[in-house]
Amino acid sequence: MEFQELLPRRRMVRHYASEPVSRQALERIVATVRRAPSAGYSQGQRLLVVTDPEKRTELAKIMSASGWTTVDDREPWLESAAALVLVCTREDDYHERYQQEDKLAATGGEEVDWPVPFWFVDAGAALMMLLLAAIDEGLAAGLTGVEGAAAVQIRERFGVPADVAIVALVTIGVPAPDPGWSAITSRRTKPRRAPAESVRWESW
Ligand SMILES: Cc1cc2nc3c(=O)[nH]c(=O)nc-3n(C[C@H](O)[C@H](O)[C@H](O)COP(=O)(O)O)c2cc1C
Repeated sequence: MEFQELLPRRRMVRHYASEPVSRQALERIVATVRRAPSAGYSQGQRLLVVTDPEKRTELAKIMSASGWTTVDDREPWLESAAALVLVCTREDDYHERYQQEDKLAATGGEEVDWPVPFWFVDAGAALMMLLLAAIDEGLAAGLTGVEGAAAVQIRERFGVPADVAIVALVTIGVPAPDPGWSAITSRRTKPRRAPAESVRWESW
């Protein structure tokens, strides 16, 4: 699909049909993480893909208990997705990478004074790849943050190592109507900012 065709289709979908999604399609979607940019080519992004129905249910329950994703009388969201992808980042990859030989001229062997946490920036770039790749496969995707207590439980249950931070959860599946959620959080309730509001040229 051409980028100009794909981009207008990009929106968070929070309800999916029960149709299965092929393993091959999911593999292509998650493989896009290797094409995402990363600071210093640190490649700190990590994904945990959950497709097993029992595990998905368990993960959805942990998330729902946090209250972030479930409100009565709306479409089931996490529960209906064919795949739940935890987008994670390993900060130490960045600290380690910037102490490597080819970075020493820039860092002098000192810890970098990070202008912003690049590991979270890169996780954002990675999740955008997933959101777009899902559409390219004829599927849909959504995104939710992961509340702190839920992250602790997920870490424990799914074995996420201590040096890997959970950044967000991406849902992937065959799209189904989602009027309830979309009415609340999507662009249907307010217009996207005009480029002139978000973008300055030449000086602020
Ligand atoms: C970091 C991040 C966290 C988000 N967390 C949630 C969330 O917890 N629940 C939710 O329904 N949507 C969440 N969203 C989706 C946004 O609400 C959505 O992107 C925004 O409303 C714009 O709608 P659109 O993506 O459909 O264009 C999140 C998006 C981002 C980037």
